[in-house]
Amino acid sequence: MSLNYQERIPNNVDLGSNRTLQRALEHWQPEFLNWWQELGPKDFQVADVYLRTATSVDAKGWATYGFVRMPEYRWGIFLADRNPDRRIGFGDSYGQEVWQQIPGEYRATLRRLIVTQGDTEPASVEQQRMLGHTAPSLYDLRNLFQVNVEEGRHLWAMVYLLHAYFGRDGREEAEELLERHSGDANKPRILGTFNEPIRDWLSFFMFTYFTDRDGKFQLKSLAESSFDPLARTCSFMLTEEAHHMFVGDTGINRVIRRALEVMKELNTDDPEVIRKAGAIDLPTVQKYLNFWFSSSLDLFGSESSSNAASYFANGLKGRPDEARYEDHVAADQVYAIDVPDGHGGTKTEEIPMRNAMNDVTRGSYVKDCEMGVTRWNRLIEKAGHSFRLALPSTRFRRNIGIWAGMPTDTAGNPITREEFNAKIAGWLPSQSDQAYILSLMHGVHEQGKMAAWIAPPDRGINNNPVDYEYVKLH
Ligand SMILES: [Fe+2]
Ligand SMILES: [Fe+2]
Repeated sequence: MSLNYQERIPNNVDLGSNRTLQRALEHWQPEFLNWWQELGPKDFQVADVYLRTATSVDAKGWATYGFVRMPEYRWGIFLADRNPDRRIGFGDSYGQEVWQQIPGEYRATLRRLIVTQGDTEPASVEQQRMLGHTAPSLYDLRNLFQVNVEEGRHLWAMVYLLHAYFGRDGREEAEELLERHSGDANKPRILGTFNEPIRDWLSFFMFTYFTDRDGKFQLKSLAESSFDPLARTCSFMLTEEAHHMFVGDTGINRVIRRALEVMKELNTDDPEVIRKAGAIDLPTVQKYLNFWFSSSLDLFGSESSSNAASYFANGLKGRPDEARYEDHVAADQVYAIDVPDGHGGTKTEEIPMRNAMNDVTRGSYVKDCEMGVTRWNRLIEKAGHSFRLALPSTRFRRNIGIWAGMPTDTAGNPITREEFNAKIAGWLPSQSDQAYILSLMHGVHEQGKMAAWIAPPDRGINNNPVDYEYVKLH
């Protein structure tokens, strides 16, 4: 479907033919813009930023690039094309027709799923709003803002569903998505990780690598939903999400490359010496990785979950890439999980497969996370160092699920609380680690310059050079 750019809200859902819906969204739009001005990227609202904007869902050319002031970004509503033959891919109604409208009995649950997903989108913009001041280059500044405007569009995607399919309740939920704020004592964002402020760029890269990747797997699960408009919205969101994870992956890669350069120049792997030279030592990278990976694991929920079982049974939320599985009903399968045995050890328990869907999804996520770690380690190995980065155990530092609050080492072995407290400073960013990272955070906003703690990227955006003026500051 072609796009009418004269409309205030670019879309491929034929918004123009539904006056009530269009008016509801046009009413929400100024509230969104107020929120963006107040809680979006601080102090860069008049800058011209080289951004991509989604303009269609055509795989060959879905986006255009150009300079735009962020408040004038065209946040649009795009759903992947409808497949008229699509059938329910899992659960008790496997093989039946997908739903174009929401069955009454699933209304409340689907609304909750959509609101929970929608809440993370503006939350991350709020978490990252101060980072522009300390961007290591104009290239990075632009990438930050690209991620931010697209999270804004993801909020639009969820708000569209709320307005279009949930009537008055949906409109109220859409308002509340702008009323909860990250870290707010009275009205926090729904999920814990999205209330952690992101004060430095190492955390930003870890967030986009690990937490946006949680987003990828949540979207993949929802892209399997029997509620077809939700599935189609989430499919298209995944296209944008890939860039967010690219920012994290290449950001961490560049931090490591810079550390390796300094290690080579000074012929040392002594963290103190590397820090004195203004780079980030690899053990500190590992600590930030431990923090953000473990925090992101909680987002998948409990290992054993009756909610997950009913989402699956009812066809609301499936497994990522459901087509890869053989049994789409999963009614009589079992799944083995390791649980604490109550005596300082672990034991294996079997639970019904449907109850284990959170952990199945978490398992796919962990595998995906490992690919980056392998690539980063290859860099370190090539440089001739024996240090290796590693993902901690999924039992480490959990706040949700069977391992919540159980002290373990990074390999997942249960340990005493005393031992955990004694070792935590070696596993997670300590006060002094955080102070050091913050001390590196100074904005480099001059064209062609790059902060000393990070290597330049291999290439620029959309075939432009690395030292292109990606953000024109005024
Ligand atoms: Fe998103
Ligand atoms: Fe994202």
